Amino acid sequence: MSIDVVVLAAGQGSRMKSALPKVLHPIGGKSMVQHVLDRAGKLGDINTHVVIGHGAQQLKDALAGQSITFALQAEQLGTGHAVAQAMPEVTGSGVVLVLYGDVPLTAPETLQALVDIAGTGKLGLLTVELCDPTGYGRIVRNEASKVVAIVEQKDASAEQLAIRETNTGIMAVPYEHLSKWLPQLSAENAQGEYYLTDIISMAARDGIEIAAIQPESEEEVQGVNNRVQQAQLERWYQRQQAEALMVAGVSLADPARIDVRGSISHGQDVMIDVNVVLEGEVTLGDKVTIEANCLIRDAIIESGAHIKANSHIEQAHVGTGCQVGPFARLRPGTELAAEAKIGNFVETKKSQIGAGAKVSHLSYIGDAQVGAGANIGAGTITCNYDGVNKFRTDIGADAFIGSNTSLVAPVAVGKGATVAAGSTVTKDVGECELAVARGKQRNISGWNKPVKR
Ligand code: UD1
Ligand code: CA
Repeated sequence: MSIDVVVLAAGQGSRMKSALPKVLHPIGGKSMVQHVLDRAGKLGDINTHVVIGHGAQQLKDALAGQSITFALQAEQLGTGHAVAQAMPEVTGSGVVLVLYGDVPLTAPETLQALVDIAGTGKLGLLTVELCDPTGYGRIVRNEASKVVAIVEQKDASAEQLAIRETNTGIMAVPYEHLSKWLPQLSAENAQGEYYLTDIISMAARDGIEIAAIQPESEEEVQGVNNRVQQAQLERWYQRQQAEALMVAGVSLADPARIDVRGSISHGQDVMIDVNVVLEGEVTLGDKVTIEANCLIRDAIIESGAHIKANSHIEQAHVGTGCQVGPFARLRPGTELAAEAKIGNFVETKKSQIGAGAKVSHLSYIGDAQVGAGANIGAGTITCNYDGVNKFRTDIGADAFIGSNTSLVAPVAVGKGATVAAGSTVTKDVGECELAVARGKQRNISGWNKPVKR
């Protein structure tokens, strides 16, 4: 059976008050429409259609490279009209699943259940009971409690307005029926729109059974119309992510104070303190500890590593048993071998730090190779940039770089060499040599201090 998924995303979303089309606003760091597409993608082999209108080009750009057919709905004449725009490209003759680009978090299991219903020739409809149904289409059932129609808020009678079962907008319909019903829609209603919801009464008329199912939670079918609703859904999504992590064996100091904006893979007994943000692809090995207020983006942290508070790690690889921070910044291309130590107020970039090497305080290490066991003193700077080009610094294993050293790249310090504190190193230092490159101290006795004039 073929599955065609039609995602409606032509509306403006004016209440977001944004230059960005509504469906491109993020939940958990990923656009709402991408959530919809990813969840639909779990149904297996599908043909995906996105109906675009407002911000059409922005949507095309944002979704480029995915296997999607775009249908342009130049004028937003209603949800039925929107689906009709995609129909010429619907190639399968099985099931058409209609989704909204601004309803991002429907569970794939719920979508599967709807598709399964439509696969048996019925119309699968997702409905939800709301305490306050205001604004939504109401589900009308007959005496036998079979669904027979949906009436929109603006077309509903007082009696119908009292119905609390509402239309989520999500439905799966056999293609053979949908293709027959859509041309029969009329815009003779309170809003002058072609309502997709009118196919429900057509199904009832034609003796096609309408099977309504409900999602496990209300948030699954929550649409986003403004930034308040976006933030509410974001919190729900984060809570789900946090719970999934805890169920999988990660300790969270406070599940309400972690944000996951991407995908995390992890080992056992990971501990995460409060206000940690994990973005992109993050891998955490066994027994990794992340202290409070860290941002970790697209990084691999190996087993036993300890990331201390207020550290910022991006596109970096932290080896087994390393210690990082507090207040460390590992920038892209940083690779720490096992047991390396990066201390407070240290910035690294495109650098390999060898096993057990230490950069404990107040340093900038960029475009550098630091050998195993080397000790980089406080305030060491690799001067890697001449204003135009970048150059590399190579520090051998077990070298000792005294505090407040400037290493003017390109430059190499040999294995086991020592650089005296306060040096400005411009020439290579050989293995096991001592380099002293600073002004000589003169002590002048009998010095007369200046006096106030
Ligand atoms: C629709 C349903 C209503 C349901 C509600 C759930 C209809 C007629 N009504 O109402 O029963 O309770 O959703 O949220 O279907 N869109 C287009 N092109 C259009 C019109 C809409 O792409 O011409 C898209 C919008 O961008 C949005 C979705 O379809 O993603 C729903 O449109 P919206 O205007 O929010 O529908 P409602 O009137 O709220
Ligand atoms: Ca809506």
